[in-house]
Amino acid sequence: MDIKNIMKSLVTSVSHGHAHQSADVLIIGGGAAGLSAALRLADSHRIHLITKGNLTESCTLYAQGGIAAVLDRDDSIESHVQDTLVAGAGLSNPEIVDFTVRHGKENIHWLIDQGIKFTRNEAGTNANADAYHLTREGGHSHRRVIHATDATGRAVETSLAAMAKQHKNINIFENHIAVDLITQEKVQIAKGLTSSEEHQQNRCLGAYVLDRDNAKVNVFHAKFVILANGGASKVYLYTTNPDTATGDGIAMAWRAGCRVANMEFNQFHPTCLYHPEAKSFLITEALRGEGAKLLLPDGSTFMHKFDKRAELAPRDVVAHAIDHEMKRIGADNVLLDISHKPLDFIQRHFPTVYQRCLEFGFDISKQPIPVVPAAHYTCGGIMTNKHGQTDIAGLYAIGEVAFTGLHGANRMASNSILECLVFAQSASEHIKQQADIPMPVKLPEWDESRVTDSDEEVVVTHNWDELRRFMWDYVGIVRTNKRLQRAKSRINLLKQEITDYYGNFRITNDLIELRNLVDTACLIVESAMQRKESRGLHHTLDYPDASKEKMNTILTPENYKENSDIEILTDVTV
Ligand code: FAD
Ligand code: SIN
Repeated sequence: MDIKNIMKSLVTSVSHGHAHQSADVLIIGGGAAGLSAALRLADSHRIHLITKGNLTESCTLYAQGGIAAVLDRDDSIESHVQDTLVAGAGLSNPEIVDFTVRHGKENIHWLIDQGIKFTRNEAGTNANADAYHLTREGGHSHRRVIHATDATGRAVETSLAAMAKQHKNINIFENHIAVDLITQEKVQIAKGLTSSEEHQQNRCLGAYVLDRDNAKVNVFHAKFVILANGGASKVYLYTTNPDTATGDGIAMAWRAGCRVANMEFNQFHPTCLYHPEAKSFLITEALRGEGAKLLLPDGSTFMHKFDKRAELAPRDVVAHAIDHEMKRIGADNVLLDISHKPLDFIQRHFPTVYQRCLEFGFDISKQPIPVVPAAHYTCGGIMTNKHGQTDIAGLYAIGEVAFTGLHGANRMASNSILECLVFAQSASEHIKQQADIPMPVKLPEWDESRVTDSDEEVVVTHNWDELRRFMWDYVGIVRTNKRLQRAKSRINLLKQEITDYYGNFRITNDLIELRNLVDTACLIVESAMQRKESRGLHHTLDYPDASKEKMNTILTPENYKENSDIEILTDVTV
């Protein structure tokens, strides 16, 4: 963030009657991570939870397949750990994987206690699995994915949201988009002091938040701030994600001085419905878990040529194989076929997918459907330790926004909501154990005295489109040095234009998101340029093999200050 923009947001003298809010904990994001943290903290802490749209609009809402956890007597922690490490292509941190998997079962029971109705076994089948039906997905060597038919996210999101709404200590602010974090260091700079003059440790004090209904930027003070904003897949033209996934949390934390890691590993889900009006509707991997086959347009199978696990290989392998075959034969899509399964099986297990495909004219019980890969998940993110702590004191990051070391170079299916739950639990326990600290007061108001309304909104729309298109073309499933360089040059131009625009015009939701998308795209490209090998989700024609050395790509911002209170595991071979 340049000085002009720091000053824009922090000059203290001008007041425009903007509101100040304070709570013990400010949670930014209302998906699985944010809501779980809120509910776990609310009996002892006053919570403000903000979401930039409706409370439930989030990636969590659209999750289909389910949540991975060791629930079957024949399964084991070791097996789930091993599968995660294999899918992570050598970059998952074994200590974090073990920590996450070990806390899986208790978190599923916590969800059940919150009222989530998971699909049960039909009488007489799989009777040792706590009576819940477990499905299978890519990379898993056991059935271990608990689910609510094929709309698991909807069940989780709507139940947790209803619980949060009822809790007297949780105050929900919908249509409120966080703009930037307020840190002690930024406040010092705004007062004209150098960052080292008055304090040693940087601390997060709150955030500036745009109330979208009133177009006012308010100050939210908090003793602790939890970023739970989700990922950044909207940086790509084709994505399974809803509009919320614009990398806001990663960009805000980076600008505030946090390190980020492994941003080059953006996961492409192998199977989205290919239809001009489907808006990248996901076809859950659980279809392949229950026997669906991937076919070329001539009806032949191909996955066995790429991996012995065929359709159930990890996602990086399947998406790459599809991309390879589409380019080889010049096809627009491949096919996914589950039509050998009986209609009643399909309707019982996949009611959402069945119904949605019917709306587009495909009966999956009778015919294969056209599918293509699309951007799905951000494996990298804000670096945290196992309590969700970041490089800035008082600032936590949990869920898809965070880099914990769990996913390595490729996330295994259904390990994401698991991570949201486990780290919401560990971060909230950590906050509860802290001695009470004073509420930050006198935070400077947002200053709009020198900006005007934009008369050229088209610049924002145009730049959104341009960014997402060149990221898809140059930083997609297969990369080269030349393509990355092209993307970098364009990002630099956009960055300059957006910084000027941001400094001169009143902010809007689209402008905030565009600024974050460009910052995130920059981190993705920078990380991809640093990785001189192909591994997991990062495949480059210039370095086609994996190197012997296993390294995370860690980016450090200029304003980074070591937080002596926390230790973040940066090594992958712990
Ligand atoms: P999200 O659920 O994305 O929530 C982000 C929240 O942050 C939203 O409330 C949003 O409004 C808010 N927000 C963002 N920016 C701001 C801001 N600046 N100010 C205020 N609020 C903000 N994972 C699995 O484990 N199993 C699955 O079966 C599965 N299926 C999936 C299917 C689809 C179609 C998709 C898209 C993802 C799927 N995933 C699945 C991945 C998983 O759903 C997500 O990784 C996970 O739900 C992320 O949860 P979260 O709480 O971190 O973020
Ligand atoms: C799916 O259901 O295929 C998505 C699962 C996931 O992203 O983990």
